[in-house]
Order: sequence, then C-alpha cells, then structure tokens
Amino acid sequence: MPKIILDTDPGIDDAQAIAFAIAHPDIELLGLTTVFGNAEVDITTRNALHILDVFGQPQIPVARGASDPLTQARYPAPDFVHGIDGLGNVDIKQPSTAPISESAAEFIVRMASEQPGEITLVAIGPLTNIAQAINLDPTLPGKVKSLVVMGGSVSHPGNVTPLAEANFFNDPHAADLVFSHDWPATIIGLDVTLQTVLRDQDLAIIRDTAGQAGQFLWDTSRFYIDFYASRLARLGSTDRSCAMHDASALVYTVLPEAFQVVSGPTRVITDGIAAGQLSVDTQQEPYVIPAWSDRPHTSAAIGVAAPRVLDTFLSTITNHSFD
Ligand code: RIB
Ligand code: CA
Repeated sequence: MPKIILDTDPGIDDAQAIAFAIAHPDIELLGLTTVFGNAEVDITTRNALHILDVFGQPQIPVARGASDPLTQARYPAPDFVHGIDGLGNVDIKQPSTAPISESAAEFIVRMASEQPGEITLVAIGPLTNIAQAINLDPTLPGKVKSLVVMGGSVSHPGNVTPLAEANFFNDPHAADLVFSHDWPATIIGLDVTLQTVLRDQDLAIIRDTAGQAGQFLWDTSRFYIDFYASRLARLGSTDRSCAMHDASALVYTVLPEAFQVVSGPTRVITDGIAAGQLSVDTQQEPYVIPAWSDRPHTSAAIGVAAPRVLDTFLSTITNHSFD
C-alpha cells in the first residue's frame, strides 16, 4: 500500500500518472508538489489543482514548488509538446481550490518527518523540489520509504539532446545532488518508458469508460499525440501513440517486478554539451577520475514488461469510478 507524495510538472503525461495514482486501490496519494518544467510553476500548479478537480479529488493538498532550477537559468517550457497551458491547449477552468501555504520542500520534509519510513516520494518533473527538500533537511533520505524518479536514460538516447532526458536536462544540478545522497532510489528512464507506448485506441477506451476524467485524458492527449505523430511521420510511420513516461514511474510503485534494474554510483552531468546526461557506474572499476566513487548506489530500470505495465495502467483507469 504505497503512500505517495507526487512531485510533478503537469504536463499531459503527468495527468495520466495522477489519474493512475488516484485510481489504483493500493495507492494512497498524500499530496502533489509542483515544479516548473512542462510549463512555468504557476501554470503547473494551476494544472495540478484543476486535474484534482476533474478527477474528483479536490481535497488532496497541492504545495507549490520551485519556479527555477537550483543554479542555472530556466529553459523555455516545451509548449510544442504540452501546449501553452501545459495540458494540450484545452479549456482549463479556474480550480476550485488553492495551494496550501507550505512550499513543496516544506511539505515533503514535514510529511516525511511525521511518517518516517512510510512515504514513497515519486518525482516526475525536474528534481529541484527534491533537492531543496534535502537542503532543508539533510536527513530526509533516511526518512522516506523510497524515491522513484522518472528521468534520464541509462543507454537510450535522450529526448532533449542526444544524451539528456528533459527532467534531468531542466535541472542537472538538482538531479546530481539528489543521487549523491543515500536513499532507496530507482530511476525509471527513457530506456523503459519509450518501450511503454499508449496508443490512440487505448486512450479512446479510457475516454469511453472513465467518465469526465476519461474525456479529460483524451482531450489533453490530442496535442501530445499530434506531436508524437508528426515525429513518427518523419520516419514514414502513420502511428498515433505516445510514450507513457510518468505513469510508468507510478506503475513501478505497485509492480516493481515488471522492471529489470541495474545499480551503481550515479552521476548527472551538470555542464557542457552533455549536461543532463545520466551515468550509472555499473562496473565500479578503479577509474582514473574518482567522480563516481564513494557515492551511494542508485538503481535504474533498463528493461520492462511493457504489456504488463500498459495493461495495469489501462485496467486500473478503466475499472475506477472517478466521478
Ligand atoms: O522526458 C519526459 C519527462 O519530461 C516527463 O516527465 C514529461 O512530463 C516531461 O516532464
Ligand atoms: Ca512530468
């Protein structure tokens, strides 16, 4: 029964992940913390509140987080992927609720301190809030049950540069700081999320079975599917589908056996043309540069039973009554 705090930058695929966290009978969603990434933090915070309204859970607390990376300047939001409004340019209504007064970092630290060893922290945006939470309370890694992160890639090319995935690219200093601490952490990166593909017909099933939440997930996915389809068309494909990035991290919390992981001291490159690149040292050779040595081990997924993950996602969403 994972008790989850979800750190998120909604975000079209973030909305799919939030739907899964709400729908899965074994998950208790304790709160959302918002961060810049797919849009500016004011927009991702508004989106988080609106998503909870649509999914019938306005009582779940939302704590607003970082507006900018730890040290570098913020990159422009990828509105060509998630739309200007971060949710596919659909009609976003004014949320019925407001964020709580605590910051994301304060909420994470307080909840972990009140429930030591019980909370699974899932991060599906840039890791700035997680880094700020560690800076606020350096004992945080020992207080959480586990940390699950959607980001990076062990060997698959990146989606922002040939080496970097978006969440780690957006704040590489935060990511490298997070993985310098010793927590039970697992990275769910592009190596597995790009194998886990939601097809348009899957989204149509969700639309036709999950009420207003299903219609919302369909409507917000149009812009996202069009983006992926335009890229696939360049390769001669007429496929209409999208990678299930963020929801894969949530499925991992209830179905870890569907994933194959490697482990080792982990860095995220912070500067230069490789900024944002994830590097898991699975060999631990006596290398000439000690930048990986004496760092704790982090796990990262390199394989996935994608049909099982997709079936778990779809059956969870379609078997839940959001209204
Ligand atoms: O690279 C994919 C990740 O970047 C996902 O979390 C998506 O929502 C974007 O934030
Ligand atoms: Ca995200």
